[in-house]
Amino acid sequence: MSSSQGFRESSPAGAPGRRRSQFTYRHLSQLASYSTTNPLRVIAHIDLDAFYAQCEMVRLGVAEDQPLAVQQWQGLIAVNYPARATGIGRHCTVTDAKKLCPNLIAQHVATWREGDDKWAYHPDAAANIATHKVSLDPYRLESRKILAVIKESLPPNLQKVEKASIDEVFLDLSAHVHSLLLERFEELARPPPYDDPTEQLPMPSISALDWKADALVDLDDEDAEIDDPDWDDVAILIGSEIVRYVRAAVKEKLKYTCSAGIANSKMVSKLGSAYKKPNQQTVIRNRARQQFLSGFKFTKIRNLGGKLGEQVVQLFNTDSVQDLLVIPVEQLKSKLGDDTGVWVHNIIRGVDTSEVNSRTQIKSMLSAKSFKPTINTFEQGVKWLRIFAADIFSRLVEEGVLENRRRPKTINLHHRHGAQTRSRQGPIPQGRSLDESTLFELARGLLSQIVLEGKVWPCANLSLSVGGFEDGITGNMGIGSFLVKGEEAQALKANSSGAPQSRSDLRAQPTKRRRVDYGGIQRFFSQKQQPSRDGEYGLGSDDTSPTHEGETASEKPLSDDAASENNAAYMCLRCKTTFEDAEQEQNHNDWHLAKDLQEEEERRGSSRFAHPSPASASTSGNMSRKGAAAHRRAGRPKKTDSKQSKLSFG
Ligand code: CTP
Ligand code: CA
Ligand code: CA
Repeated sequence: MSSSQGFRESSPAGAPGRRRSQFTYRHLSQLASYSTTNPLRVIAHIDLDAFYAQCEMVRLGVAEDQPLAVQQWQGLIAVNYPARATGIGRHCTVTDAKKLCPNLIAQHVATWREGDDKWAYHPDAAANIATHKVSLDPYRLESRKILAVIKESLPPNLQKVEKASIDEVFLDLSAHVHSLLLERFEELARPPPYDDPTEQLPMPSISALDWKADALVDLDDEDAEIDDPDWDDVAILIGSEIVRYVRAAVKEKLKYTCSAGIANSKMVSKLGSAYKKPNQQTVIRNRARQQFLSGFKFTKIRNLGGKLGEQVVQLFNTDSVQDLLVIPVEQLKSKLGDDTGVWVHNIIRGVDTSEVNSRTQIKSMLSAKSFKPTINTFEQGVKWLRIFAADIFSRLVEEGVLENRRRPKTINLHHRHGAQTRSRQGPIPQGRSLDESTLFELARGLLSQIVLEGKVWPCANLSLSVGGFEDGITGNMGIGSFLVKGEEAQALKANSSGAPQSRSDLRAQPTKRRRVDYGGIQRFFSQKQQPSRDGEYGLGSDDTSPTHEGETASEKPLSDDAASENNAAYMCLRCKTTFEDAEQEQNHNDWHLAKDLQEEEERRGSSRFAHPSPASASTSGNMSRKGAAAHRRAGRPKKTDSKQSKLSFG
């Protein structure tokens, strides 16, 4: 084993009296099949640094040290690291930011202008909130390129990649690591003694691992750090090398930097990627996992950020993982119910067997606009529907709608007049190829149904969404060979008769919507509808509210900092997000409404329990200041990418 591969040789394997590994041949072979309970499993989470800001830097070709922020109307939605160094954050207004950093480039996001059929970078966008709508297309396109480079840099037959949001992915590196282990360690390639897979493996033929530039989460106890690596350490080190290689490829080919976490589960790897930013990676070995997690508030762990987290805080009078660790599982079970109690007990110990799903399953797409000033005529509404249809259609194209890989089954329109929200839904004809004008016509049909209801003007918000995605027929069957089956045929008939289904149940106030109780943990999960950053950062915009595609960090709980910076004049009763003005609050309510709609669709469309977030695998990367400081102490100094060595993949 050459030292360039990160290992130092020790005494020969199988030397007399040598200890055996705590892992078995079965554990080793389970790596190849991505077993989710395998202690040798290697999961990585990669998150782009200041993503939208980097997209603009790359597009504009600005220097790496140039402070840049992405502007949306008068707010900032992304701030690069050089700008963050001057104290600018997403909470700043453009005016304040420029005071802090006079040479800041504040680039406005691309927008669709009323009447246009394509988004563009308009120099006057910021002053035209009434006639423009934000487009995230440029960032989606970059996101796709990055995903493609990540996939290209991994062996095609040994990769499992899940796009978790517009700027992050999970990788299950287990099978890849397995193949490299067998290649590099001949003692592992041999069959188990007596052909018994429950036999323990020999210890690794190395005594020290070279973690190179990685931030390695250390152990509290210096003695525990003696050179005594077992196969889980070796596996995660190989995983870390792979991740360094992937990150270097993204940097080299597309100029983007990202940060990563490498651990045994999605939950811990996600906390790891946010641990040191920008342009760094953090390894959390099994042996350091508890130490790492203890520094976090448990409310920062995915699914403990919402109602369940609040309940646990109240029951046990603490929000720290450390304090909760001493509570016996029986007590958690008796207070939270058996399933939830066990889940909480496990998750704070980093036990998370959720799977990396290589198929990104978009469940719905939404395009919306809050009107300020309000709009007053059917024609004005129709102009926006044209933009919504174009916006949604361009995203459908990315999803493969043209090739019939995936297509939506339903279309929904929400209309808000004062406190009253009306909604109409109709089926999308499945028998022919879907195009932009069909979407637009369907949307217009829904709006005409709504206006028949009487007093619907002025309108403060319109929101168009498509959902009920299904896999289409691919392969060599042409579009013409589609068969329209029972339910679909009926839907088609209903639609052509021009009778969209009324959704009277959606007319209630958005904040008082009916909910279905899933029971158990799912009950809590479904409540965890985190606010968009519109509320969190005081942006007051409809446009970046979650797209249903898991592309915003909507799963990320409010950070303490952000919450305390709000003036808290308005508060959402459902999720306690605070806002500075009524418009932000209304935008936020729109978002709840859209999410509820999505949930209803999911419930109707599937008998499996519906998970609210398509990016469901992710956890929060936030960490309390105190926790972060404690962790920083434990970390190793940062080194740059240039020192990163490359792996050769077999
Ligand atoms: N974003 C947004 N609106 C939201 C949430 C997120 O516009 N409601 C954008 C951010 O501007 C960001 C991207 O989504 O560029 C990814 O978000 P996140 O990873 O949370 O933050 P980054 O800006 O990438 O910064 P970091 O380096 O901390 O990851
Ligand atoms: Ca990011
Ligand atoms: Ca992210």
